[in-house]
Amino acid sequence: MGDMSGQVALVTGGVRGIGLAICERLAGRGVTVAGGYSRDKEAAQRFLARFGEEKASIHQGNIGSNDDCARVVQEVRDQHGKLDILVNNAGITVDKTVRRMTPEEWDRVIHVNLSGAFYLSRAVLEQMLGRGYGRIVNISSVIGSAGGFGQANYAAAKSGMFGLTMSLALETAGKGITVNTVTPGFITTDMTAAVPAAAMEKVVARIPIGRLGEPDEVARVVEFLADPDSAYITGQVYAVNGGLYM
Ligand code: NAI
Repeated sequence: MGDMSGQVALVTGGVRGIGLAICERLAGRGVTVAGGYSRDKEAAQRFLARFGEEKASIHQGNIGSNDDCARVVQEVRDQHGKLDILVNNAGITVDKTVRRMTPEEWDRVIHVNLSGAFYLSRAVLEQMLGRGYGRIVNISSVIGSAGGFGQANYAAAKSGMFGLTMSLALETAGKGITVNTVTPGFITTDMTAAVPAAAMEKVVARIPIGRLGEPDEVARVVEFLADPDSAYITGQVYAVNGGLYM
């Protein structure tokens, strides 16, 4: 494992769920963690208390807005002087069948889940290229590989991340920057807690390992990809799904 102490990471949606587990892992390696959030102010305050103002910061903004993404990246650089790691983790669901989904519901999920990763990658790129170092990890989903009933917007955004990852990996290869994707299966967070219990039972019945995953089981793969020693891995997709999709 390489030395990550003194590095700075921006993790969108870092104040809870999978994002928080990623921050726990990175902070454990001596990384200063900047946690992004949209509305959950209380979780953001707990995040700051948990990691301490010396080694952490919080950044409110809507990643579906290019202006907010540019501002958040500027805030992180002003506060910590640089950015070594970007984890595009924040995401939302607005589930409806295509027949019922409005164009606004389609656009909202595409903007937050896919365009946000583009806006933020673009905002960090010049600085990473200038320093000849960077790690970008995108959090997609098993739904991006397999599709999901009532999830055309979410699945399209999460599949779109594969193309973004591979293209940006090609554009940055050999320049010290790697770009990879992690595709979680069903993980115990607020997102899955919102799914009705009966529907969740059916999901678990389809998972070969027979249970949901824990946020840390995703976070440890992100930590691996963000490690300086993972320099020869770029443009790849890593699944963490209990065997749900092979
Ligand atoms: P969560 O719902 O617990 O957390 C989502 C985070 O994203 C929150 O911190 C929220 O503040 C932030 N966020 C939401 N909309 C935002 C916006 N417009 N601008 C900025 N931040 C925003 O979600 P969870 O479960 O931790 O998921 C994290 C990522 O993992 C998401 O991209 C999700 O799609 C993905 N994922 C989750 C799975 C699961 O089973 N929980 C499975 C596969 C993928």
